[in-house]
Amino acid sequence: MGRLCTLLLVAFLGWAEGGSSLHHPDVGSSRLALEKAFGRSLKDSQCQHMLKHLHNGARISVLMPPNVEGHWVSTSCEVRPGPEFLTRSYSFYSNNSFQAHQFYYEDNHCTKPSYTLVIRGRLRLRQASWIIRGGTEAEYHLHRVQMVCHTATVAKELSQRLNHSCKGAVTGPWEPSVAYELWSEEGGYDCSRELNFAMHELQLLRLEKQYLHHNPDHLVEELFLGDIHTEPSQRLYYKPSSYQTALQNAKNHDHGCIDCRIIFRSDALHPPILAPRADLTVGLYGQWVSQRCEVRPEVLFLTRHFIFHANNHTWEGHYYHYSDPMCKHPTFSIYARGRYSRGLHSTRVMGGTEFVFKVNHMRVTPMDVATTSLLNVFNGNECGVQGSWRMGEQQDVTLTNGCVALGIRLPHTEYELFRMEQDAHGRYLLFNGQRPSDGSSPDRTEKRASSYQMPLVQCSASSQPSDFSRTENRPHLNHNACRGGHRGSQQHVTVALLTFITSLLLRWQS
Ligand SMILES: *[C@@H]1O[C@H](CO)[C@@H](O)[C@H](O)[C@H]1NC(C)=O
Ligand SMILES: *[C@@H]1O[C@H](CO)[C@@H](O)[C@H](O)[C@H]1NC(C)=O
Ligand SMILES: *[C@@H]1O[C@H](CO)[C@@H](O)[C@H](O)[C@H]1NC(C)=O
Repeated sequence: MGRLCTLLLVAFLGWAEGGSSLHHPDVGSSRLALEKAFGRSLKDSQCQHMLKHLHNGARISVLMPPNVEGHWVSTSCEVRPGPEFLTRSYSFYSNNSFQAHQFYYEDNHCTKPSYTLVIRGRLRLRQASWIIRGGTEAEYHLHRVQMVCHTATVAKELSQRLNHSCKGAVTGPWEPSVAYELWSEEGGYDCSRELNFAMHELQLLRLEKQYLHHNPDHLVEELFLGDIHTEPSQRLYYKPSSYQTALQNAKNHDHGCIDCRIIFRSDALHPPILAPRADLTVGLYGQWVSQRCEVRPEVLFLTRHFIFHANNHTWEGHYYHYSDPMCKHPTFSIYARGRYSRGLHSTRVMGGTEFVFKVNHMRVTPMDVATTSLLNVFNGNECGVQGSWRMGEQQDVTLTNGCVALGIRLPHTEYELFRMEQDAHGRYLLFNGQRPSDGSSPDRTEKRASSYQMPLVQCSASSQPSDFSRTENRPHLNHNACRGGHRGSQQHVTVALLTFITSLLLRWQS
C-alpha cells in the first residue's frame, strides 16, 4: 500500500509540474486504484470494459510540439453555439501560412450550404500550454477573409446586413458564387464583429496519433483546436480553454468517414453537401460511456458513464475525474442520480430535444492523496462528515446538500439539450448540451445549451445494474500507509490542489 500511495503522490506532482510528461509508461498503480474504485468486476460488462479500455491509452500518442502541416477536415456536420451548423477544411503549410475554409449551412445535417468563409493567415506555435495540460499554445495573424454565398437569398440577406454594419465591404448587390472581401490587411473595414468571427480556435492545439484496430497501416491523426465560447458575443474575447470536435488528417483519416472525403474534395465554389439523414428520436434508456478522455474548460479531465431508467424516468451518472489528459491518474469520482423529464423538440436548435434533469443524490470518492486532504481541510457540514475523508472511500454528501469544496449544491436542476446519432459503425451516439463557457451551470431555461459536448456511445441497451453500482463502494485502502513520511510533500500538494479546486469552484458554481 505504501507503494501505491507514493506512486499516486508522484503522479499528482507530475501533473502539478505542468505539461511536460505526456507518456506514462507505468500506469499499473493507478489502474489498480481505478479497478478498486470501479469495482472488481470490470470485465463483466461491456460498459466497464469500454471505460477501462479508454485508460489503456497506449495506442494514442500526443505529439508535442504538434506538426500540423497538412490538410485537416471535419468528420461530420458540426454544431457551434448559436447554433451554427458547419464543416471545416483547414490547410497548414510548411511556410507557416494557412488557408481555412468554414462552410456554413441552413440545416443540422449540413445538406444546404448557405455561405463559406475563406480565411488566410499565418500560424506560429508557442509553448506547451500551462493551463491545459497536453495542449500547445499558438498565435495567429490574419491576412485575408473572404465570403462566398451559395444562394441568391443568402447573398441578398448577408449583403444587406453587412451594408449596415460593416461599411466598405458592400459596394453593390451581392451575387452567389462570388468571393467578397470581408477583411484584408490592406482594406480598412472589418466585418468580424458583425459576424462574431474570430479564429481564436487556433490559439490552442493538440495533435493525437492513433492506430485503429491495432493495425500499423491504419493511422488516424486528429487535430483538436480550441473551443468556441458558448455565448456568441463573447467569442471575440475568449481564449480557448478546451477543444472542439477533432479534425482528421485527410491523408489518413478513418476509412469509414465518408463525410471526410466529401469535405476534402470541396472548395468555396463547391461546398460539401453531406448525405441527408433523418433526425433520430432521442431515446434515453440504457447505458452510455465516454469514447475518450474529455476536457472541460480549465483543468478538468474526465470520463462519464450514464444510466437511464426509462421505466421511472430516473438517471444515474458516474463522473471520473483525472489530473492528466490521458485520464490515467484519477483524482476523484462523483456518483449522482435523480429524475429527468423529456420536453419538446427545440425550436432554437434544429435536431435537438429538450430535457430537464434533477440531481438529488450524490456521492464522492477522493482518489488521490491531494483531493483527500483537500476535502478534509474544509470545515463545517459542507461536504460529508468533516475530517472523515479517506482515499478510495466513497461518502454520501446528500445530507450536506452536496459538496461546497467541489462547488456542487443539491438539489440541483439543469436544463438540457440532447440529440442522437448513429456513427459510421452503426453505434448509437448521445450528445448532451455544452456546459456554459463561463463555468456556470445551465440552471435556467435561458441558459440551455445551443451546442453539444463530445458524444457518449451506447454500451448497453439495458439499464439493469451492472454490478457497477453494487461493487463500486468502498474499496478499502489502508490510508494509514499514506501518513507519515510524506507530510512535507503533501502540504505542497494541498496548496497546488487548492488552486485546482478554486478553478473548479469558479467553473461549477452558478
Ligand atoms: C506558403 O505556401 C503556400 C503553399 O505552398 C502558398 O500558397 C503560399 O503563398 C505561401 N505563403 C507565403 C507567405 O509564402
Ligand atoms: C447599401 O446601403 C446604401 C444606403 O445606406 C444603399 O443605397 C445601397 O443600395 C445598399 N446596398 C446594398 C447592396 O444593399
Ligand atoms: C427506477 O428503476 C430502476 C430500474 O428498474 C431501479 O433500479 C430504480 O431503483 C428505480 N428508481 C426509483 C427512484 O424508483
